[in-house]
Amino acid sequence: MSTTLLALRAPSANRVYTDAAGPLAAAEARWVLGTRFPGAVVHERLLAGHDHLEITADAPREQLLPVVSLLSSTMALYEPVDVPDEPAPLLRPVPLAPVLHHSSDLETTLKYPGKTNEQFTALLINLAASLSENRDRLLDGTLALLDPMCGRGTTLNRALRLGLSPTGADLDRRDTDAYRTFLLAWLRQHRLRHTSEAGRLSLRGASIGTRFRAELAADKETLRAGGGQSVTVLGTDTLALGDLLPDGRTDAIVADLPYGVQHGAHHGASLQRSPLEVLRAAAPVWRRLMRPGAGMALAVNRRTADHAEASALLADAGLQLLSADGAFRHRVDQAIDRDVLLVIRSDHPRADMLRALGAPDPKDSHV
Ligand SMILES: C[S@@+](CC[C@H](N)C(=O)[O-])C[C@H]1O[C@@H](n2cnc3c(N)ncnc32)[C@H](O)[C@@H]1O
Repeated sequence: MSTTLLALRAPSANRVYTDAAGPLAAAEARWVLGTRFPGAVVHERLLAGHDHLEITADAPREQLLPVVSLLSSTMALYEPVDVPDEPAPLLRPVPLAPVLHHSSDLETTLKYPGKTNEQFTALLINLAASLSENRDRLLDGTLALLDPMCGRGTTLNRALRLGLSPTGADLDRRDTDAYRTFLLAWLRQHRLRHTSEAGRLSLRGASIGTRFRAELAADKETLRAGGGQSVTVLGTDTLALGDLLPDGRTDAIVADLPYGVQHGAHHGASLQRSPLEVLRAAAPVWRRLMRPGAGMALAVNRRTADHAEASALLADAGLQLLSADGAFRHRVDQAIDRDVLLVIRSDHPRADMLRALGAPDPKDSHV
């Protein structure tokens, strides 16, 4: 059974994305739909002066609806309805599936230089999840998601809104402290039941940073029964994660890598090494944490991270770069020309199928 939905694209919150927003949204949709519904077709459409994505897949409407509702740019949905005597189908509004939990201020309140755009963060999560064999867990809250360079938690907050229980890590203590302060204030303000603990992070007797964990639920009973959500933040070097987190348990890794330029207020360790040096050191650690069928979406600055070099160093770590050179490329500012690297373990059970999805010309609208 084939279903067509038209997704009205949200106006881009950030004007630098205006030109790139359409192709980016279409590229996201092609991976997200293509990994779930082989043969799905995505077109950009201008209808009544507004930008839409037209998505057709060989799936019942109830299966397509939550997936399209999750796309980072989806603002409203319509389905075409044939009406006698009308020359073209009319569009009937379709309510979005209730895929997001918690209010949007969880993602938007914190503002700081160097924050990853929230809509772009949602796109990264969708892409990483789509590569995972456990992609459907994005919809039932059980996808194991890690941002190993989480900054002040844009990924973690989106993940919480998706109903997940994410883990993050960042080397910069100011970031992890700011996230903890924000989240606890937000939980109190929204009267969510929660418990939290924070302390030093030790490894083999040596202190290597800080840790913070919060558990949250809408009511006391759910929290007590362990049926709520959690968020864990490790204030440490991403290279230490191999000793701190279990091997082979992460479904999706999402990270906005250091740009290798002074972006906003980020100073210190993140700027001392080039982004590809950071990736070369981190890739084997992240691979260990991934399930064989996991997915990874990494945002990189193309001015400091060459595609072929990235591909080679990922291969050295037993990882495979799937996305074509420039498939998600867009300009953020004068110093940042951003792209997304879609990565799997070389032994991913569906590596051949995913490789084929990455192969077509990114401008081609068929998946
Ligand atoms: C582009 S920022 C990520 C911003 C984040 N997505 C947000 O919205 O807040 C890159 C982050 O990588 C962190 N970082 C750089 N090197 C690291 C390392 N070796 N281990 C952990 N974090 C690191 C930096 O501290 C910085 O917060």
